[in-house]
Amino acid sequence: MNQIKLDPERTLSTIDRNIFGGFVEHLGRCIYGGLYEPESPLADEAGLRTDVLDALRRLRMPVMRYPGGNFVSGYRWRDGVGPVEERPARHDMAWNSIEPNRFGTNEFIGLCRKLDTEPYFVVNCGDGDMREARDWVEYCNGTQPTHLVRLRHQHGFEQPHRVRYWGIGNEVDGPWQVGMKTPEEYARAYLEFSKVMRWADPSIKLLASVTSAWDATFVERAQLLIEQAAQYVDYVSIHWYVGNQDGDFASYMATSEIIEDRLSSFEGLIRALRFQQQVAHPIALAVDEWNVWYRATPDPASPNFNGLEETYNLEDALVVALQLNAFIRHAASVRMANLAQVVNVIAPIVTRPDGLVLQSIFYPFELYSRTCGDTALDVFWQGETFTPAGHAALRVLDVAATLDAAEKTIALYVVNRSETDAMETTISLQTGAFAGPVQASVVNGPDIRAENTFDQPGRVGVAEASVSADGKTLPYTFEPHSVTALVCRLA
Ligand code: AHR
Repeated sequence: MNQIKLDPERTLSTIDRNIFGGFVEHLGRCIYGGLYEPESPLADEAGLRTDVLDALRRLRMPVMRYPGGNFVSGYRWRDGVGPVEERPARHDMAWNSIEPNRFGTNEFIGLCRKLDTEPYFVVNCGDGDMREARDWVEYCNGTQPTHLVRLRHQHGFEQPHRVRYWGIGNEVDGPWQVGMKTPEEYARAYLEFSKVMRWADPSIKLLASVTSAWDATFVERAQLLIEQAAQYVDYVSIHWYVGNQDGDFASYMATSEIIEDRLSSFEGLIRALRFQQQVAHPIALAVDEWNVWYRATPDPASPNFNGLEETYNLEDALVVALQLNAFIRHAASVRMANLAQVVNVIAPIVTRPDGLVLQSIFYPFELYSRTCGDTALDVFWQGETFTPAGHAALRVLDVAATLDAAEKTIALYVVNRSETDAMETTISLQTGAFAGPVQASVVNGPDIRAENTFDQPGRVGVAEASVSADGKTLPYTFEPHSVTALVCRLA
């Protein structure tokens, strides 16, 4: 028997809704043939696929990162503004493709406005320079009568775009990056880039790239950044992708442990450095690329390269939910996270010319984004365990919960990591009482390898039910290999 104890008075932190962010890169069919397909009968007047916009609205992403990714480390933003017929096609070194630049800054801003999401731009700190980066800030946000602001006006945008979030470089620690930087090189570049970008607009929030390779340099990278440029660091950006490389479900379900290790160590690292350097302002974590990705080769030179079009199954959906649970449990430090990516490229949505399919990972993301409260709760849970190779016993259930104080609701999120067993559980409230009914939303499918395809689009989905509850105790049985959200009203 499993036990979950909820207490609306045991709060951890507010939740920043930016943990439900997304990421759009010029890569494969993410933009061209995904978001943007002017020749499609499904496109709107701006060339954006209306079916894709509708699906993305369901994910309620409050912030969208753009334009890369590895792509940005060779990108010239000026190539993507102004009359489309005058924009140059360029060789994209990151993905070895031809970038036509038909979609750029202003098209992306238009997309964000339609999705009611905040744009988050990453500047080129690979083969780009600080002048180019600060000019992009001025072009987007400037209000003075300068050449760049007039240029934006000429391009049809009288009002500033007010782009709030700016990342400096992408995965600068990776040898795969155009213009990879050593810890010293990046700390130095970051200081100079951020200084002039803030001079262009003092209100912007800046994100520093720290680790994606998770190699031995990440402590030094964080240390040099905070020592040299703390006043310009609002977030440190970390990336990860996880997967079931060994085809071992139990080990895959233990992905929660590596995520916990990464988040906990970064929280401690940043806390120690802020203490050491007497940094008063908060420095948050932005997991601004995260997802499952292990099947599609990243190597554009490989004959198997398919533009990172990964097909997801039910076990991947469970692992997406494990990551969202971790973001909720670490809500005090994780203030932004961006699912990489949104369409076709390692994505919850896959298109073809006549329509789209929602992959398994769409459903947990939609569910959490729709039901998440504004405060993370400190949940107690115990019960049945499993022991994946190389681990001590882990609880079969992975749990997180949030409170919406205004609505007087708790959202309880539970991943049942058993492939075979339903988990009978007693959920109890430590303070107050349930005021039923509880809304139960369950993401599941016939088996852990079930996928959604154009031929069978509904193998993994979400089932809704209403469960009555009053008093302090709610018995509930979690289905095998499922993600459940229980939204409970409080008396
Ligand atoms: O999201 C795909 C790629 O993964 C991005 O371009 C890069 O930042 C990461 O390695």
